[in-house]
Amino acid sequence: MAKRKIISSFLVFFGLLAALLLATKASSARLGADSDSVIRMPTETETKTEMETEAEEEDEIGTRWAVLVAGSSGYENYRHQADVCHAYQILKNGGLKEENIIVFMYDDIANSPLNPRPGVVINNPKGEDVYAGVPKDYTGVQITAENFYAVLLGNKTAVQGGSGKVVDSKPDDHIFIYYSDHGGPGVLGMPNLPFLIAADFIEVLKKKHASNSYKKMVIYVEACESGSIFEGLMPEDLDIYVTTASNAEESSWGTYCPGMQPAPPPEYLTCLGDLYSIAWMEDSEAHNLKKESIAKQYDAVKDRTCNSSIGMGSHVMEYGDKSFKEEKLYLYQGFNPANANVSDNGLQHGAVTAINQRDADLLFLWKRYEQLDERLEEKTEVLSEMMEMLKHREHLDTSIEFIGKLLFGIQSGPSVIRAVRPPGQVLVDDWDCLKRMVRIFESHCGSLTQNGMKHMRAFANICNSGVSADAMKGACVSACRGYNSIKWSPVSRGYSA
Ligand SMILES: *[C@@H]1O[C@H](CO)[C@@H](O)[C@H](O)[C@H]1NC(C)=O
Ligand SMILES: *[C@@H]1O[C@H](CO)[C@@H](O)[C@H](O)[C@H]1NC(C)=O
Ligand SMILES: *[C@@H]1O[C@H](CO)[C@@H](O)[C@H](O)[C@H]1NC(C)=O
Repeated sequence: MAKRKIISSFLVFFGLLAALLLATKASSARLGADSDSVIRMPTETETKTEMETEAEEEDEIGTRWAVLVAGSSGYENYRHQADVCHAYQILKNGGLKEENIIVFMYDDIANSPLNPRPGVVINNPKGEDVYAGVPKDYTGVQITAENFYAVLLGNKTAVQGGSGKVVDSKPDDHIFIYYSDHGGPGVLGMPNLPFLIAADFIEVLKKKHASNSYKKMVIYVEACESGSIFEGLMPEDLDIYVTTASNAEESSWGTYCPGMQPAPPPEYLTCLGDLYSIAWMEDSEAHNLKKESIAKQYDAVKDRTCNSSIGMGSHVMEYGDKSFKEEKLYLYQGFNPANANVSDNGLQHGAVTAINQRDADLLFLWKRYEQLDERLEEKTEVLSEMMEMLKHREHLDTSIEFIGKLLFGIQSGPSVIRAVRPPGQVLVDDWDCLKRMVRIFESHCGSLTQNGMKHMRAFANICNSGVSADAMKGACVSACRGYNSIKWSPVSRGYSA
């Protein structure tokens, strides 16, 4: 029976997960311990008062802007909004003005009935609340790729709903963008479809550059396959430096998860943060940002995010203009006077284990299922939710595999749809084709959903192989004949691309 099969595949999955965790010696992630050599800024001469110095620096750097985006919703995705709230606190403590920090977060975590600490969000097992004071610029249905683009371009008339705050920047200004969520080849998640599509985002960055409205921009992106957003696409002449949590073909990782090291407080059933995200934020909090350079943070984050010796983590990547990496981080993240004398020697990372982003939602459901009383109806509901999710995953996986075989033959189908282009090459040559193929697939086979984002590479390869829309439609009809799930229909959920 299908039901039994699903339960058994579920148990196999958690068996593997448990084995993996047992086999894993807790790792102690340590940042480079060499202390900064103190370089005196020309403005730090003894004859000047602190206020004069600050006034000069402000003059010199223009305004600092930031756009923070949590691309998910749902309590099982707690960590992405926690990351973004934490980032807000760092920037606010760094002296950025609230009017210059624009926050996109669904805002369904702090007051969720599942939140053990109502009204509070934490991003570290020992962390304090990071939710208080975070501006609700764009929440719920207002979080769309289109609104994100409009905000970045400073186009108030194009923004739909929300606070209307946009990046109204001038030629001397610095801009910091931080995004955290699920992703897939060429796409980043948004809580309201469609996904953010790499080529569209890069076009927006080019437009922003053409409008001569910033001096430099730094972008940090946490998501699975986040490298694929920039690989072969990101120009080097836009005065934009980018780092991503992962390369173009691997998952990124959630951390501070139940049952892992270090674990969240026992009342939490969900992961509190993401590995790359907490790595940059904890690094920023452990340094004087007038001395810590972009390059040093990149190196520290890269070390902490990838630990091949334990088979967890991902490869942090960099893209765009690498010529200004020696600039100090305070230009983007501000400077918190309380951190003037901190040193990372005192930073205790402890052991860090992590979970693949794509399995973190299952981990949450499983923890919830374990915790619920046998007699509660809710327990049955959680079980059927897990089963439905796994069933849809399996349906998507087998449909894509079958479509590959129909289009390219039994022998070569699987290798054609899984092919990965060499580093430096763009995912797909024709992005409109990619969007078209996604819509054709979803019309016949149901919505890709968060987990199905990983299949974007299959659609890219179908485009790169020159398959026509008609041929794709024929293959989807054959593969998904009789499929009519209302729950996963793109008609109610929207199309992913
Ligand atoms: C990676 O894991 C090993 C084994 O647990 C540990 O000794 C090492 O310190 C870790 N490296 C980093 C950079 O976290
Ligand atoms: C701003 O957005 C509106 C509506 O989408 C568009 O018509 C207009 O051209 C945009 N303005 C600029 C300066 O791009
Ligand atoms: C940092 O050190 C300087 C020089 O020793 C001292 O004047 C300043 O008060 C210290 N700042 C903080 C926040 O501890």
